[in-house]
Amino acid sequence: MPVVSIRVRRAAVGAVCFLFLMSGCAVEGAPSILDPAGPGARRIEGLWWGLLWISAVVFAVTLAMIGYAVLKRQKVDSADADARWTEPFVVVAGAIVPSLILGGAFVWSLTAMSALSSETEEADLVIDVVGHDWWWEVTYPPDRGGVVTANEIHIPAGRRIELRLESDDVIHSFWVPRLQAKTDMIPGKTTTMWIEADEPGTYRGQCAEFCGIQHANMIFYVVAQEPEEFDEWLADQADDPGGAGMTGQEVFLSSTCVGCHTIRGTRARGVVGPDLTHLATRDKIAAGVLDNTRNNLARWILDPQGVKPGVAMPPTDLSSEELNALLDYLEALR
Ligand code: CUA
Repeated sequence: MPVVSIRVRRAAVGAVCFLFLMSGCAVEGAPSILDPAGPGARRIEGLWWGLLWISAVVFAVTLAMIGYAVLKRQKVDSADADARWTEPFVVVAGAIVPSLILGGAFVWSLTAMSALSSETEEADLVIDVVGHDWWWEVTYPPDRGGVVTANEIHIPAGRRIELRLESDDVIHSFWVPRLQAKTDMIPGKTTTMWIEADEPGTYRGQCAEFCGIQHANMIFYVVAQEPEEFDEWLADQADDPGGAGMTGQEVFLSSTCVGCHTIRGTRARGVVGPDLTHLATRDKIAAGVLDNTRNNLARWILDPQGVKPGVAMPPTDLSSEELNALLDYLEALR
């Protein structure tokens, strides 16, 4: 029986584990900068492939030269080796060519960074986004109804939108991989960026700066719509929601919910948690963690710590009649 050294076997096991782990990186449907859906991400993709190919060519040329040197090696004494520093080949291939390649890549990267972060004089719309542990507050301008929503940023497709980013607590980072680069949200400072989506669609965003135990569950979606559809959506959001006078509204208003949440048209004016005015129109709850279904709403209300440990929301103690009435009401918030 052939003897395989322990080292070789360890290397083989390591390689298999590495491939297995890497296969987890290609999550089905996960957003990627290599699948751009707007001009910002497209620029990043171009830079990514460009730098990859430059590196690949440099690596191949270097390997070829090492191979040549190994095959054609000659005995030289050290005095000769010192003398070669001034040879034209050493100066050109060792200093001039690398400087040109690195300098070019640097200038190219700087140009891309500047274009990605440039001010947008002709922005159609300015949206304020505030990062909270662990959700996103989204506010539209007063002349567009001053709509406040959470974890879902609707924009018109094909238009450049300016975002003003702030944080309410720690540093977060706003990132929609298929649309734009990451931009930090820093407490006490407003950072700006722009986003633009070519086509209507839903683009997943993610906090990209570790901000606490639920950082990975600080998710949001950018929903790009046809401009007319977007205008309709915004007008609907500016209206007061349904559900007035329902039993569940009384349950809501007499519970601890009002301390943290706002529902426009009622006396619920809390500003600690997301504005729930048009909650039923959103696809997800708990900042992208759960689909917005009746069962999930019940789960979230009764046991938020079970869904997102560490979240600021406390559990709510309700009888089953109260819970059902509350769910009816929340589902009427359209
Ligand atoms: Cu917010 Cu990570």
